Order: sequence, then C-alpha cells, then structure tokens
Amino acid sequence: MNIKLVQGDIVNIAADTIVVSMVEGAELTGAAAAVDKACQGLISNVVAQGEFKAKLNETIVLYPQGLQAKKLVVVGLGEAAKLTIEKIRQIAGTAIKTASKGKAGTVATVVHGAGVSSFEVEALAEALAEGTVLALYRYEDLKAKKTESSLSEVLLVEQAGCKQCSIESGIKKGEILAQATNLARTLVNAPGNHMTPTHMAETALRIAQETGLKCTILERADMEVHGMGALLGVAQGSVQPPKLIVLRYEGNPGGETLAIVGKGLTFDSGGISLKPGEGMWLMKDDMAGGAAVLGAMQAIGYLKPKSNVLGIVVASENMPAGGALKPGDVVRAMNGKTIEIISTDAEGRLILADGVAYAVAQGANKVVDVATLTGACGVALGQFYSAIVANDEELVAQIKAAAAISGERFWQMPGDDDYKELITSPVADLKNSGGRMGGVMTGGLFIGEFVGNTPWAHLDIAPTAYTETEKPYQPKGATGVATRTLVALACK
Ligand code: BES
Ligand code: MN
Ligand code: ZN
Repeated sequence: MNIKLVQGDIVNIAADTIVVSMVEGAELTGAAAAVDKACQGLISNVVAQGEFKAKLNETIVLYPQGLQAKKLVVVGLGEAAKLTIEKIRQIAGTAIKTASKGKAGTVATVVHGAGVSSFEVEALAEALAEGTVLALYRYEDLKAKKTESSLSEVLLVEQAGCKQCSIESGIKKGEILAQATNLARTLVNAPGNHMTPTHMAETALRIAQETGLKCTILERADMEVHGMGALLGVAQGSVQPPKLIVLRYEGNPGGETLAIVGKGLTFDSGGISLKPGEGMWLMKDDMAGGAAVLGAMQAIGYLKPKSNVLGIVVASENMPAGGALKPGDVVRAMNGKTIEIISTDAEGRLILADGVAYAVAQGANKVVDVATLTGACGVALGQFYSAIVANDEELVAQIKAAAAISGERFWQMPGDDDYKELITSPVADLKNSGGRMGGVMTGGLFIGEFVGNTPWAHLDIAPTAYTETEKPYQPKGATGVATRTLVALACK
C-alpha cells in the first residue's frame, strides 16, 4: 500500500472515502471547514448535536452529499495545545482503520494538525505516513485465508504548491520507518521453527542486497576462532547453527561508529533450567532485539544518514539437549572473562557478552544493545516502558532524544556498583544470574562487563516487544519496538 501525494483540493478529490480532522472545542478550520461547507454543514451539525467532540482519536463516519466521496471520516485531534507528533501518528492510524473498513478502494486525507499547531509540515506528513503504514500491518503469512481489504491507495492531498517537497520527503521517511518496524514485527511474529538463526541471517543478506549495506555472517567455526565461548555455550544445546550477523553502513568515512547489537534468540526454552510450559510459546519473541536491529539497518540503508553504523545480531536457539550447557558450568567469553552459569535461562546476557565484545573489537565507539532480557523488566515498569541501563550519561541523553522523536518510551534504571557485586562468582569472574532482586540492573550490567570503557547502553525490551492490546497504530502481537528509536539515534 502506497501513499501518494496529490496537489489539489480535498473537496473535489475523486476518492471513495475522505478523512479530515478537527480540534476539540474549536471552530472548524482548513480542510474540515471546506468539506463541511461543500456538504451543507454536515460536520458542524453533528458537532452541534453533541454527537462528536473531536476528542483525541474519536472518529465519526458520515455519508455526505455534494462530494465525490461516498464516505467521510472526521477524526478528533483533541486539544490543540496538547497536540504532539506521537498523537498525529495515532490519529493517522485510527483514521485509516476507520476509513478502510467496508469497500473503500481509495482513501484521501490531508496533513493533520497543519493549521492548528506549529509543527513542521514535513514532520506532520512523516507521522501521518508512519501511523498509516503501521496501523495497516497484519501478520497473515501463514494463513490460507487472509483478511480481505479493498484498500488500494491512500492519497495525501495538499493545495499549496510550495509544501509539496517537504510533504513528499516526510511521506518517504515515514514509509521507510514504518516498513522497517513492520519487518521487525514480522520477524518476531514468525514462529520459531521458521525464524531460525539461519533465517535471520538470510534476512540480513536480503537487506544488504536491497540497500547496499555490507553483510558478513560469522559461523560456528568463526566464533571458535574468536573465542566466543559464551555464545557457543548457549548454542551447543541446539541443532540450529548459531549465526553472528554483521551489517555495516558507512555514511561518514573516518568518523565514529555506533554499534547496535540485538539479541536474536530465536527460541528460548530456558535450556536445562527449563521454563514452565505455560506461555513458553511466547519465547519465539526472544529475537525481538535482533529484529529491531535488522529493521533499523534496513531503514538506515535507505535513509543514508551521515554516520557509521554497525548492526550486529547474535542469533541462537536456547534448547536443552544432552550436550547443552548446565548450571555450574563455566564458559570463557571473547574478551577473556569467565562466567559461571547459574541459570541456563539467563542466556541472553551470555550471547550478548560476545556480541558487544565483538562490536568493540570491530572499532565501535558507542555500543547500544537491545534485548528481551528479563521478566523483571515487566515487573518493574509494566508494559509501557522499556528499560535503559548504561555506563554513559551522554549516550543515555542521546537515546532519550531519539525516543522523543520516535514516540517510544524508555526509562533509565540505576547502574550503581552495588548491583555488580550481585553478579560476582566464587569460581569465575562473573556469574550469569544475580537472583530475583534487581534483575533488570544485574542483567544489564552483566553485559556492560564486556565493552571495556566504551560508552554503552542496554535497552531491555522484554515487556514491550509483544502486546495483547491493540492501540491506534499497533495491532496485537509483535510491536517492532526500538526499531524507530535506533534509526533516530543513528540519524542524529
Ligand atoms: N527471554 C527471557 C526474558 C523474557 C521474559 C523475555 C519474559 C520476554 C518475556 C530471558 O532469557 C530469561 O529467561 N530471563 C530470566 C533471567 C533469570 C534466569 C536471571 C528471567 O527473567 O527470568
Ligand atoms: Mn532465558
Ligand atoms: Zn531469553
């Protein structure tokens, strides 16, 4: 589904459905006022009757006369003073879902929020495209019968000739970001028997081919050469060969390099420290960090920012075979540190230990890892926030600035040395579990032990990677969380 920019007047546009928006508690302005006038005050009547208040994400469907369109959707922006770019994304998602119900083939809309806020028209168009493409996402690859939709085109109508360029580039960027997020969603929604480490590597190769990124895949033998005993330890319980996937984007030769390192654990059974059966199916989402990295690298490959980005996905299964890692075993990571295995279910930090050490060895000046790392994260923050654990406040500030652009929510957790004492081992340099208390911090800080002095931040997306509640631009299932924040970080 494409969004096409059309120069003209929304009142005269030939489309099946048109969408306009209005502010709560204010007079109709702009496109909504023009449409209202063209259909004999239909919108103002509904407002006068108190049927529609234009609260945020409120919609009303009208069947106008005097317009080419058969159906008219009005969506509420809420109060003008409280409008944000994130709300524009939501409004766009709400509107397209309402507009595309039924038989509409073509939906025409305008840039929402333009006349009633001080946001740049480019940012508004980007948010509109993002919200639209994100809201229309469905995962139906494995269903014989797909949901029927007659929607074939979304037209973004703008009268002013001078705004065409900004709107066009906003649409492009929004589409790229949403498609990257949808790619991450699909990788996460795919079942573990399809989405193996090998399949993740194939996806990376396809992204590289399509966008011109460089791609290297490290195989088991390469991992042995590098001494990646932590990653190899986790992988040894599975028949699926592990892959360390490297995508490289160079947009600022000679400049510093940001590494984004994702946990690509394609199924987490817990290993010998087996998880309970109930709910275990969801552990197909344990590669969501890796999916976010792949999605982000796809977008970066298309957007071509003036920066260098190293995208790394550490991909493995965690299974309980006869040769699997056992509690009490000790492994040696790439940087030489030894790790006592307390729980084979704390495998994410093991594979990431080698992932971040490899990123540093490859010359990364900044490392951000992203992982569905701990159940404790959901206990601490609920499902609304992802956690940050870091060794560098400047990098945290950059991540927060990136999240302010993407609309995703992150909360910084403490990183005091006291937590590190909880992961010291009597027999090795570290142990891989610090117990139940403070699990987000001990899990995160464990990974930080493998980056040396490099500025580093860890994003725990365990509670946010998958959702059972639908939101305006978020269907149930995988969210693709962190994809857009990582792109914003790379583009800053
Ligand atoms: N993949 C899980 C974390 C997880 C839990 C992700 C729930 C998504 C939803 C991770 O590998 C894990 O099992 N963590 C353990 C760590 C513990 C053994 C120290 C946990 O959180 O229980
Ligand atoms: Mn686990
Ligand atoms: Zn896991």
